[in-house]
This record gives sequence, structure tokens and C-alpha cells, in this order.
Amino acid sequence: MTLPNHVNIVEVGARDGLQNESRVSTEAKVRLIDLLSDTGLTHIETGSFVSPKWVPQMADSREVMSRITRRKNITYSALTPNLQGLEQALDTGATQVSIFTSSSERFCQHNINCSIAESLTRFEPVMALANEHNIPVRGYLSCVVDCPYDGATNPTQVGRIAHLLMDLGCYEVSLGDTIGTGTPIRIANMLEAVQQKVPTDKLAVHFHDTWGQALANIYQALTMGIKTIDSSVAGLGGCPYAHGASGNVATEDVLYLCQGLGIETGVDLELLAKAGWMISEELNRQPTSKVSLALKHRSEI
Ligand code: HMG
Ligand code: MG
Repeated sequence: MTLPNHVNIVEVGARDGLQNESRVSTEAKVRLIDLLSDTGLTHIETGSFVSPKWVPQMADSREVMSRITRRKNITYSALTPNLQGLEQALDTGATQVSIFTSSSERFCQHNINCSIAESLTRFEPVMALANEHNIPVRGYLSCVVDCPYDGATNPTQVGRIAHLLMDLGCYEVSLGDTIGTGTPIRIANMLEAVQQKVPTDKLAVHFHDTWGQALANIYQALTMGIKTIDSSVAGLGGCPYAHGASGNVATEDVLYLCQGLGIETGVDLELLAKAGWMISEELNRQPTSKVSLALKHRSEI
């Protein structure tokens, strides 16, 4: 078994985390993203251009995108479920966008109000316009292990839709354990099926930590060659259309795991933790990251 030497972290806290929080000011979002920009991260998901009726928490994404201090070497990306979303993202100077669908029908319907097949058709003009502007498009695939409405997802189905997203022109597919029920063996079975359809270097993992298995699942994925991990500062997160789903795996915990395994991330753990303390204070709660709490405890003695 070989582990990668380097892992890319995609920081999704400002989007996946804050899409679930109704009381974070635009100013605090901008401050968080600016702090994250100082940590060595190279990809920060910054917002969502989705319907404000569906996710009002992201209604200020345009303002956030226009107020952050952009660094040249950082990709600031946003979710765009349709052409309308992409047009708005382009207006704000997004340099990368993501489309998102599901490997289960009922989550797709609940989340983006269409079937999986309809979502893929809807993405065609999005991809065409993104190509015209040389904007790379990431594909998210939700419910790769279980769906809150349809139950267990067949790994073959995950491989099939991941392949269709690549066929559409996505540069990478991020595999979402949306409700965080996966365990290492189920992750391994799912990844094996997907790896038959999509090259491993085009895959990322996006694990929510609802059942406390995300780090174990990430370790499993690393042993299978995965080199891109989505994570969320302070463990913020959840999906408004997957009730009970808690935050993503905390970035602090992933960084500490990688340090311990001798895997480079290029991200400064202490600076990242400080960004997490700032947003946690704003939310008036503790980070869910044990690493963050341990660092905080150490800094206070
Ligand atoms: P719809 O209602 O079917 O859309 O929603 P529509 O095309 O019929 O439009 C209805 C209204 O929405 C219209 O306004 C449109 O203008 C407006 P009205 O005429 O009623 O005033 N609208 C928009 N407004 C702003 N930006 C847009 C936009 N599009 C339409 N882009 C739609 C379909 C996809 C828009 C809706 O279902 C939606 O916005 N869903 C987003 C849900 C979401 O953001 N979920 C969370 C992110 S996904 C996630 O968290 C999972 C992930 O983390 C991976 C994992 O963990 O698994 C990525
Ligand atoms: Mg998510």
C-alpha cells in the first residue's frame, strides 16, 4: 500500500458550511475567506449562485465574491446549478465553478428539483458557456453511499453518473457522502466501482462526518490513490436538503492526519485553526474539530 506524497485540500467551509447557517453576516464571510487565503490553501469554495428561495443563506454570494481580497494562486469557486447561476458567477469574476447532481433520484429531486437525467441535460449549456470562458468545471456527485430518501446507493450507479459528469467535460468529480453514513469498507466498494469508470486522479472525496467516520474513510480513500480531499474549516457544514446531515470533515483534522502520515498539503494548520476559531466565535459555538479544540487548549495554557 502506498500513500500519496501530496494531497490537495478543497476548502468548502464558506460554502458547504455557511449554506447551513442563517445568521452569518456578509462581513464575517469575507473575513473568513480572507483568513483562509493566508493559510496556503489553493482552492476555496466561496459561495453558491443558487435560487435564494431555496438557499437564502447564500443570497449574498455575489457580494462576498466581490469583497474578498483575491490571491493570484488561489482558485475561488462557486456552485452553479444552471445557466442563470453560471452567468452570475461569471459576472463576479469566478475562476472556477461546480455543477452538482446526485447518484440517487430522490435527493436530486429534493436538492435541485429535477431528475438525474434532467440535471445532466441542464448542465450541457452550463458546460458550453463555461468552456467559452475557459472556466474549469468541477462535478459534485451526492449520496455516493446512502441517500436520505432512497436508502443505500448502488456503487455501480455512482460509477455510471461519475462517468457521465466526466463525459460532460468536468475536470474532476467530487464524491459526496452527503449524510456521512459511510464506513471504510463501503467507501472502498464504492471507490472500486468508480475507479473502473473514471481515472483516480480525476476523483475527489467529500465526506460529511455525521457518524464520525470521515477521517477513517479518508484514510481508506488515500490508500486507494485519492489525492484531493474536500473539507471544511472548524467542521462547518451540512446540506439543507439532507436533514440530520452534519458538517464536512474538519480541515484541521485532515491536516493533522496528513501531517502524521507524512503527506504534504501546503496548508498551515495553526493559521487554518485560527480562521476556524474566528468563524466559530461568530456562530457562538465550538469547532467540531478535535484537533482545533486541542490546539486551542494548548494555546491557552
Ligand atoms: P426551480 O425552482 O426548479 O428553478 O429550482 P426554476 O428554473 O423554475 O426557477 C425558479 C425561480 O428561481 C425563478 O425565480 C428563477 O429566476 C430562480 P422567480 O421567477 O420565481 O422569481 N432561479 C435562480 N435564482 C438565482 N440563481 C439561480 C437561479 N435559478 C433559478 N441560479 C434550482 C431549481 C436548481 C434553481 C433550485 O433547486 C436550487 O437553487 N437548488 C440549490 C439547492 C442547493 O444549493 N443545495 C445545497 C448545495 S448541494 C450540496 O450541499 C451537496 C454537496 O455539498 C455535495 C454533498 O455533500 O453531497 C455539493
Ligand atoms: Mg457537502
